[in-house]
Formats: sequence, C-alpha cells, structure tokens
Amino acid sequence: MQEQFDQTGTDNLRAAKVMEATSLNDRFSIGRIAHGPELSAALEQQQLQKFFSELAFLYRDIYAKEPWNEYLVCAKSDCRGKTGLPETASVSDEDRKVASSPDGSMCPSCNSPMELFYDQQRLVENLNSLFRQKVFASLLIADEKKLSGFSLGWETSVREGYRDKVVAGTGDQAAPAMSYPEYLEEFRRILGSDFDEESTVFNSAEWAVSSEARSSKASLPLIHAIYALAQEKIPKTFGRDIPVIGHTLVGSKALGIFRKIGFTPGAKRKGSDEVRVYSTLPALIKGTQHSL
Ligand SMILES: CC(C)(COP(=O)(O)OP(=O)(O)OC[C@H]1O[C@@H](n2cnc3c(N)ncnc32)[C@H](O)[C@@H]1OP(=O)(O)O)[C@@H](O)C(=O)NCCC(=O)NCCS
Repeated sequence: MQEQFDQTGTDNLRAAKVMEATSLNDRFSIGRIAHGPELSAALEQQQLQKFFSELAFLYRDIYAKEPWNEYLVCAKSDCRGKTGLPETASVSDEDRKVASSPDGSMCPSCNSPMELFYDQQRLVENLNSLFRQKVFASLLIADEKKLSGFSLGWETSVREGYRDKVVAGTGDQAAPAMSYPEYLEEFRRILGSDFDEESTVFNSAEWAVSSEARSSKASLPLIHAIYALAQEKIPKTFGRDIPVIGHTLVGSKALGIFRKIGFTPGAKRKGSDEVRVYSTLPALIKGTQHSL
C-alpha cells in the first residue's frame, strides 16, 4: 500500500509501459511517449493521474516565471494583465497564499481581481485530453524519478496550425496578430509553396526545462527526442519533409536557441509579443544533434 503513495509520475509511466527511456548522463534520462493503443488503454484506466498532476505543476511553475509570467491574470476581459513569479518562488507555495488571501491578488493595472492563469485541476484535465489525441512527448527525468522538463507536440495541418498557433497562441488578446491569409503567406514564404492547406504539420507546442535543470546540456537532447520520435512515426505525404511550427516571445532566450537549431522566425506583428517559428523535422533533428 505504502508503495502506491510513494509512486511518482514517472513510475506511473513505467508501470503502464507507455514510455521508453534512455540515459543521457549520470544525472538525466530522456523519456519518449507516442500516441498508440498502450497510451489509450492507460488513459482509459486512469493510470497516469500522478504523472499528469506532476506535469501540470511543472508546467505551471515554468510558465509562471520569466519570460512568460503566466501566474495570475486579470479577470477583467478588456485588461487581462498578467503577473509572474520570481525565479525562486514555487507555484505550490504561491497557490496556498492565494487560497488563504484571495483578496490580496488585485491587478496592478486596473485593480480588478486576478485569477490563476492555469488552474491546476483544469490543466490536468486539458493534459489528459491532449494525451488522448495524436500527442508526442519527450520528458527530462532527473535521478530516475524527478520530472525536470518536457516537450509536447502533435500532428496538425497547415489549416489547423492557424487555430493552434495564431488564434490559441495569442490567447487572451481579442484579435489574432495576423489573419489566416497572412499566416498562409508567411508559411509558404518560409517553407515553400508546394504545401496545401491539408498538408500534415508538426505543432511543436511546448519545450520547457525546470530552473534547476537549465543550462545543463539537457534541453537540446530533450527537444531532439521529440522531433526524432515525430519523424519516425508521422507518415510523409508525397515524400515531402514534415514542416514544424512553433512559437515563442520576441527577444526571449528560446527564440535565440530556435534560430540556432534551424527555425526561421516569421514577421513580428504589431501588438503581439509572440512570434511564429517555422522549420522541418529533418532540419531540426540535424540542428539539435549538432550540439550533442
Ligand atoms: C527554452 C528552454 C527549454 C531552454 O533550456 P535551457 O536549459 O535554458 O537552455 P540551454 O542554456 O541549455 O541552451 C541550449 C543551447 O542553446 C545555446 N543558447 C543559449 N542561449 C542562447 C541564445 N540566446 N541564442 C542562441 N543559443 C543560445 C546554449 O549555448 C546551449 O547550447 P549547448 O548545449 O551546445 O551549450 C528553457 O530556457 C525554458 O524552459 N524556458 C521557459 C519556457 C520557454 O520559453 N520555452 C520555449 C517556448 S515554448
């Protein structure tokens, strides 16, 4: 019985046999998860709840800080100002403070109440439903147990990429930073005009490493693993390379790294801090391997 309480999220994954893990060095290993019958069965039987709970905490902890600052968001629809946490804070401690004094969280711009940017329970549910779709994940695991980073992505199409990366990407802003024709023009300018709107695309949705695991030569192998997995599993149409779309913030460290590994940024749009980045799976596999 005790064993059940001591189970970590990565033990969940190993018990359900949905993850392959390989050792990177003395400290880290990299896990890979792809959609398929084993993953569907484990989700059906709710075997991954501890994993989703740890993943949601890690997700919130990373995106609550610089450069994203997604900890609290103003509830007022025409404000939606965000406040972040300092690098040394932890979301679980901060959640306790917010719960004990909800009135203390007022928006610095308009003094309206703030709410959690990502509610823990809702995020667990969203991750659960994401993993029911065509998801690919790579995980950074420290000391064989501790979830310390992740990369998530899924198959989409050029057309759906607009919803995934532009409409959802700009999130709380009332109007997307670019129209669908502008997005199509940008996609074709960077990746070539022989893709149609139904062409398969890999949406490189998340790439995140915990503060303690930063700059430890683990982040590129982590993202390499998801691209290699996607390249292995997604069938090519008419022999063409699979395009990849990601997005990040203008001026961020991630944007510098994205360029280094082979992404081309799109144009910066007025009123938006986010920028779309485009590449192909083979180019990114090469770019991330280069520095191993
Ligand atoms: C983006 C993120 C995963 C990168 O992980 P990291 O541990 O900080 O990255 P590293 O310091 O290991 O840098 C990776 C490589 O890029 C290089 N690099 C670092 N900063 C760079 C920059 N500004 N420009 C170009 N290359 C850079 C490093 O030298 C390193 O190469 P090496 O391993 O060959 O030495 C991490 O910073 C993070 O989780 N950020 C918050 C979430 C986020 O913004 N994710 C991306 C968008 S979804």
